Amino acid sequence: MNSTIVRRKHATPPVPASPFPYNPGSLLSVMDLSLEGVSRLLARATELDQMDPLVRNRILAKRKVALLFYESSTRTRTSFELAAKALGADTALISSLSSSIEKGETLKDTGLTLRSLGAEAIILRHNASGAAWLLERETRLPVLNAGDGMHEHPTQGLLDLRTILAHLRPGIATVDAETLKGVTVAIVGDILHSRVARSNLLLLPRLGAQVVLCGPKELLPDLAAEAGPGVTVERDFETALGQSQVAMMLRIQAERLAGMQIDLGGYTASYQLTSARLAKFAPKAVVLHPGPIIRGLELTAEVADGPQSAILEQVKNGVAIRMAVVERALTAAEQGGRA
Ligand code: CP
Repeated sequence: MNSTIVRRKHATPPVPASPFPYNPGSLLSVMDLSLEGVSRLLARATELDQMDPLVRNRILAKRKVALLFYESSTRTRTSFELAAKALGADTALISSLSSSIEKGETLKDTGLTLRSLGAEAIILRHNASGAAWLLERETRLPVLNAGDGMHEHPTQGLLDLRTILAHLRPGIATVDAETLKGVTVAIVGDILHSRVARSNLLLLPRLGAQVVLCGPKELLPDLAAEAGPGVTVERDFETALGQSQVAMMLRIQAERLAGMQIDLGGYTASYQLTSARLAKFAPKAVVLHPGPIIRGLELTAEVADGPQSAILEQVKNGVAIRMAVVERALTAAEQGGRA
């Protein structure tokens, strides 16, 4: 008798390839970008930042960009608008509070209306996770995700990366899978509701960084430990701080708590970044925060204004990165759609 065991192959059903992004100029997620694509954006951000403004504003002269904002924003909205204008584009701002969205117009119909009005790209901030994907599917325009609910904020991830590189890898022109080897980034606070945390934890480990998520169980479920390679959970803030070269502090997103009660006294006792904690556990760490900061809650005013804070550098980097991303949105199709 033939003792050979013939194993039948159980074919695993193929995972359907995502059709997103439909438009090569879109940036819906940091995962839309290869590391070469990240490198190109970083390099172009620097070129555009250093370019003569009179030359720069001919690059997208008279092209049309719409900013569609369903949630409030200071940094993202202003920097995207300044970025598009610096390249010479015309911009139109549509805010949910002063448009026909208030009368019940859907995201799809608003997007199609903007396309008919001549918009060549739409920058979208929305309270619903996945909204940018829906808008892209319906309009087929380049869509730039400026924050979708609790999901992603890809340009924030890129500007955070630019800031980290400037401090820890100055002079680096391109990134690869080892660029941030040996760098640990602690992301601290309200991870659960944070699109900034998600974009960073999807991006930074691809460059070799270790990401340590830190926060209380209500704001950082145990499940987060399975977020992916290069990501761990550490509940003790001082332990997380002690092993990190970057401390990225997050605001508690009161607008997304949906009735959840947080003991703020207990939270600040355990997770507030103070000068004493910084001096003792991370005297050389770079302090980041996507903003808006709440002084006296996730960090003290002394830390926000202190020498280790790169918070305002992040804001400035937002304009450079968004110039590169807006240019890519309007030129990717012509350039063969490189990611
Ligand atoms: N970081 C950030 O998204 O800030 P705004 O909400 O002010 O745009």
